[in-house]
Amino acid sequence: MEIIISHQRTDFDGLAAMVAAQKIYPQAEMVFAGGLTNNVKEFMSLYKNRIPIKYPSEIDQSQVEKVIIVDTRVAFRLGSFSDLVEQDEVEVIVYDHHMNRQNCLQDATETIEPVGATTTILVEQLNEMKVEVTSFEATLFALGIYEDTGCLIFSSTTARDAKIVSYLLELGANLGIVEKYIDYSLNRQQQQLFNKLLDAGYKVTSKGFKISFFQAEVEEYIPDIALLAHKLDELHNLDALFVLVKSGNKVLIIGRSNHDSINVAQILNYFGGGGHARAAAATIERNKAQELIELQQELLQVVRENITPDALAKDIMSSPVKSVAPDTSMEEADELMLRYGHSGLVVEEDKELVGIISRRDIDKVRNHDLLHAPVKGYMSTDVVTIEAETSLKEVQDLIVQHDIGRLPVTDQQGKLVGIITRSDLLKLLYGTDDYIKNRQNLYGRSLVEVQEKRYNIDQKLGLVEERIMELLKSAAQLADLLDVDLYLVGGFVRDLLLEKRSLDLDLVVEGDGIKFARKLAQKLNGALNVHHDFGTATISLDNNLNLDIATTRVEYYSDIASLPEIELGSIQQDLFRRDFTINALAIQLNQESFGQLVDFFDGKVDLEEGIIRLLHNFSLHDDPTRIFRGLRFASRYQYRFEAETEKLIKQAVDLNVVDKLSNNRLISEVKKGLNDTHPLSFIKLLVKYDLLGYLSNNIEWNRAKEEVANNLAKIMEWSNSLSITFNFDKWLLYFALLVTGLEKKEIENLATDFNLSSDCLERLLFTLEVEQVVEQLLVAESNSVIYTLLSQLTIEDILLVLARESKLKEKVKLYLEKLQWIDIEVSGEDIIDLGYRPAPSFKKALKKIKKAKLDGQVEDYQEELQLLEEYIEKKGVE
Ligand code: CTP
Repeated sequence: MEIIISHQRTDFDGLAAMVAAQKIYPQAEMVFAGGLTNNVKEFMSLYKNRIPIKYPSEIDQSQVEKVIIVDTRVAFRLGSFSDLVEQDEVEVIVYDHHMNRQNCLQDATETIEPVGATTTILVEQLNEMKVEVTSFEATLFALGIYEDTGCLIFSSTTARDAKIVSYLLELGANLGIVEKYIDYSLNRQQQQLFNKLLDAGYKVTSKGFKISFFQAEVEEYIPDIALLAHKLDELHNLDALFVLVKSGNKVLIIGRSNHDSINVAQILNYFGGGGHARAAAATIERNKAQELIELQQELLQVVRENITPDALAKDIMSSPVKSVAPDTSMEEADELMLRYGHSGLVVEEDKELVGIISRRDIDKVRNHDLLHAPVKGYMSTDVVTIEAETSLKEVQDLIVQHDIGRLPVTDQQGKLVGIITRSDLLKLLYGTDDYIKNRQNLYGRSLVEVQEKRYNIDQKLGLVEERIMELLKSAAQLADLLDVDLYLVGGFVRDLLLEKRSLDLDLVVEGDGIKFARKLAQKLNGALNVHHDFGTATISLDNNLNLDIATTRVEYYSDIASLPEIELGSIQQDLFRRDFTINALAIQLNQESFGQLVDFFDGKVDLEEGIIRLLHNFSLHDDPTRIFRGLRFASRYQYRFEAETEKLIKQAVDLNVVDKLSNNRLISEVKKGLNDTHPLSFIKLLVKYDLLGYLSNNIEWNRAKEEVANNLAKIMEWSNSLSITFNFDKWLLYFALLVTGLEKKEIENLATDFNLSSDCLERLLFTLEVEQVVEQLLVAESNSVIYTLLSQLTIEDILLVLARESKLKEKVKLYLEKLQWIDIEVSGEDIIDLGYRPAPSFKKALKKIKKAKLDGQVEDYQEELQLLEEYIEKKGVE
């Protein structure tokens, strides 16, 4: 396979050069290496059907034999292809106009010419080869050249660029489009410097931190280099970066850091500069300034000396390490894990680490009656280890990179001295101080002060429906009889305080909840369903009410399994395990305290102030659906996240915690959010917290979609005013908006990934046609045409059409209220009565009558029959 790629953040020169190269190498596939500049993104969203470019995930890199690279030859700018192009067996061809030779690819066949844009080189070749160029292509090529030459005025512009532009204009290049897409946000000098810096980027990894250096020499001082540093920072996912610009007799160094371990002010202080820990600058006079490259080396040295890793493996590892011998049986290993609360054990032979056996390995053999087998047959032998001095950052990278649960730690002689598990690391990241000081803290760090408060809420209780109140009282009597404490918890309590109706009754029993549930089901004559594994039960009652009953239970987490006892009272513990303070309120039901609101975590205050606050900093790791639940509550009640909670959500997303969710759970949470009261707010939060990518890589949200979403809400409201009622899947409408812009294949993949029904898929695929249907409906004049167009659509499709174009409301109203119910009275029988034998053309004849009826040309049976006769007489029946 052959591919054509350009640099990450592909600009118009990159894009145009790719398209031109594809005309020279028609068998090669074009693939984007990484992101696109904003204006290219905008361009592609409109023209992607005309420029078939794939994304890296759609390419099997192992099949690639030849890579044609345009507009760069710096491997580091090729994103996910940077390793591929350095493989010996891959043939590399380069077209580029950057003359700087740093970081170049070895063994590539290069065409490097000193012109203003790479596109110029390729279009010249197309011209020589007499390859035909369409006016659309000419426009794109012109865009590439104009952008990189600053509309032919950058000093890098050559006569060759100008000649090619003139040639492209002759071919019909459209300057209106060029004008629309050229980005002026950096001035030309800055743009030029920015490109230079990008090409001279140099990346190192030190103590696990990714740091880049960008350097360039300019003839005269260019203002606002800090802005360029900022843009470079935005472009690359770095821990720190330094920009070195030499101009005249000075070198300006700008440093930016995104990590507490790298203090750029301290580093640049060495060069006489200063600033803040995260942003600093220094200016060096010429007599002190060496060649830029030497200065960069010196800077790198200073950076290396000044990185202070926040923790080392030895600070966070557990030791001594529990190990087993290779001949230990799987069963014994299983017991050891249970006893010590570990989810994996190290396997050692003669004090040498030979493997790791995890609970997951044991679970795999459990069903096959193989527990007697020795661990050596099932352990993983491919063990990644680290040294005690390894930085936390490297530990983190290794765990993520290899997706492994535990890393054995060795000393310099290779002797096993400890182990770090994924949960050690997560707990550390979620709350360093407490964790190091007190590793046996039950839930990591609490975000709330725990203090029991009780309130009388008689006034709110007055709002509870009579039948529910009776039910609660009946349950309370039973609880007293069985001598157990009983609480109403969760969403019902929250919604009651907000004076909103809820029918979700969640009860918690301090004691044997299942026994209580059995007796209550008998008493209420309800159907009981017990889930022994979870200690929960559900009672379904005739009046459509459901009761969920849970038992407060003590939870053991792997690392704290050896704790002798749990100090918290059991309802308090149950509530502390829940997601947000507003959901951790309880109402006691035992008669003595019936109706008292019990609040341990000031959830009542948060509810009154509109704050969503997690209870403890490990909560999202325990259950990532809570990220989506949080967004749902924030959007439903228009609440805000408490600062620490917001930070934890961002951290959890950064740590990819969402990946732990099955696709079914993920989509179910998204559906709930979109079905809730404020779907648009929910979507905006998904965007804000960078969660859309979990649905599909290329899903985008933009202003235009937001406008359609706003219209959609109005249209749904409007649909209530119609004289007919219908049901539709609200979430699906918003989901369709989300996927708008995706290609057919992408939508199909998404539907497969998330197990969506074929009906859902159809609705989502309709997004590819909706524009066209809108156009057709706008010009549709007769009732029959309106009917024909709309009768092919589902109600969801119709609402989407209206959200795009509300002018169509009247036509849709006419269809929904009237046209769709119109039926003709004549039938095939009438044609037979006219003396004809049944034939396929009957259908056509009847359709004709229906059309006439829709358009008001016939009204009753007689008129229909007359028209039918006339039609058949004219056309016959066959
Ligand atoms: N809960 C939790 N973590 C979850 C799910 C639920 O802590 N991932 C707890 C919360 O206390 C929640 C209760 O279980 O209030 C009941 O959950 P559920 O019925 O799913 O949600 P509600 O809070 O009732 O929300 P909704 O009004 O949307 O049904």
